[in-house]
Order: sequence, then structure tokens, then C-alpha cells
Amino acid sequence: MKKMIPDFKKMSEQENKITMLTAYDFPTARIMEKAGVDVILVGDSLGMVVLGYDSTVPVTMEDMLHHAKAVRRGAPNTFMIVDMPYLTYARPEDALRNAGRLMQEGGADAVKLEGGEEYREIVSFLTKAGIPVVGHIGLTPQTAGLLGGYKVQGTEIHSASKLLRDAGMLAQAGVFMLVLEAIPALLAAKITQSISVPTIGIGAGNQCDGQVLVIHDMIGASDKTVPTFVKQYAMIEPLIVDAVQKYCEEVKDRAFPSDKHSFSMKQEVLSKLT
Ligand code: KIV
Ligand code: NA
Repeated sequence: MKKMIPDFKKMSEQENKITMLTAYDFPTARIMEKAGVDVILVGDSLGMVVLGYDSTVPVTMEDMLHHAKAVRRGAPNTFMIVDMPYLTYARPEDALRNAGRLMQEGGADAVKLEGGEEYREIVSFLTKAGIPVVGHIGLTPQTAGLLGGYKVQGTEIHSASKLLRDAGMLAQAGVFMLVLEAIPALLAAKITQSISVPTIGIGAGNQCDGQVLVIHDMIGASDKTVPTFVKQYAMIEPLIVDAVQKYCEEVKDRAFPSDKHSFSMKQEVLSKLT
């Protein structure tokens, strides 16, 4: 059964961990629903993982809508969060229009946006308008340049206390869930204890209320090195390379297609052909 927003709070109170993975297309979404993942995230990691950009900055509303719709078709009964792309939520009116599109056209159950304290008014504005919002702090890929690259955040007192404050303010502004990316496990534990909103960690230790990973990373679907916080549960890229190479060889060798993969015709029909 599809989970709803109050279920996540209940799960965190009952210490029942929330499972989340990204998906960007119909077949992957179908697999996730079959496997019983609690939440699907249509992340703007789409840009890097599927569209081949080297950051999430070029991702557009049209990209997110296109992929969110496909995911929704593959997983009609799974809670789906869709990321708001870079610069689509900097002003309240834009944020409302774009979040509204992700909900109405994209089929999202909630939207996620990156940023702390600076986004409390946007979050509060969206929430009051009836849009469920997920926060995302720590390593925020859309502004990775400002953070000095893709690296752990909140290891010093100044940055750690900012993240703790950000979490509290976002919770107050109305987020119903908060993603913590690439921060020390102890800081993530402290944030998780200090707010009543469920936290979802990625590179944030095991004291968060749930976990999220990028699907391509955790199944080894690319030959890129993955961040150290990723556990690879499968390595599918070499399997696919192998299959494609075998196919090419067999076509060259005329081993494929064999009779088994061809259609037959009666000899008498053939003999009547002029
Ligand atoms: O875009 C994404 O995949 C994300 C997760 C890594 C949290 O935002
Ligand atoms: Na994202």
C-alpha cells in the first residue's frame, strides 16, 4: 500500500527505518515498487547519472517532468518525491508555480529542494499553499561549487552548528522530511534527535530515520567510481558489457539469430513464390 506523509513520522517514532532510492525511468520504478521500497526519489542526480552532465545545474523543469511521469507510470503505488531543479525555487512565485507543476503534471507526492535557513520562507510559502516539501542540507550538489566541491560538510564547529540550526528552521518552516547528505554520523544523529521531522541520510551514518542512495551507484550501473559512502549491492555494468559483446560476436559469426529466434514458413508456400 502506498505510504502517506503521516506514515513516515510514525515509522520514525517506531524506529522503523525508511527506505528510499532514486529512479528516473519506468522499468526501474517498476522494480522498486516490486521490491517494496518505501519512497522513490526522482532526484536531479538525473542530470549526472542519466543525462551525462557533470553537475545537476543544467537540469530543467522539463527534464524532471519527463522523468517523473515515467517513474509514476512504473510505480503508481509508491510515494514519489521529485527534486526541484537549480534556480526554479529562488523566488516564492517561481517556487510555487514549479512545485505545482511537479505535483500536477509530474505526479509527485512531494517536492524536495536544497538549502537551509535561507529557504525557510520559500518552504513556509509552499507548505502553506499545500505542497509537501522535503528539505536537503549538508552536501547540496546544486551549490557544490560554493561548498568547495563534493565533500563532507559540517566537520567544524561553525559549519556543524549552522547545519543544526538549518535543520531546526526547516522543520519549523514545515518540511515533513529532511535529507542529510555527506555529514558526520554523530552530527546526523544529533540533528535527528533535535527535530521531530524524519531524517533521511546519504553519507550521514546509521542514526538517521531512513537512508537513500542513487540507484545506479548501488547496483554498479556505471564505470564511474562511487562516493565512499555508497555500498554496491550489485555490479551490473560488466554484465551488460559482456552481453553486448557476446551479441556483437554472434552476429558477426552468424551464430545469431539461429532457427530458434527466426520465423519458419512452409516449403510449399516458398515453392509458390515466383
Ligand atoms: O538527486 C539526488 O539523487 C538526491 C539524493 C542524492 C538525495 O538529491
Ligand atoms: Na538532488
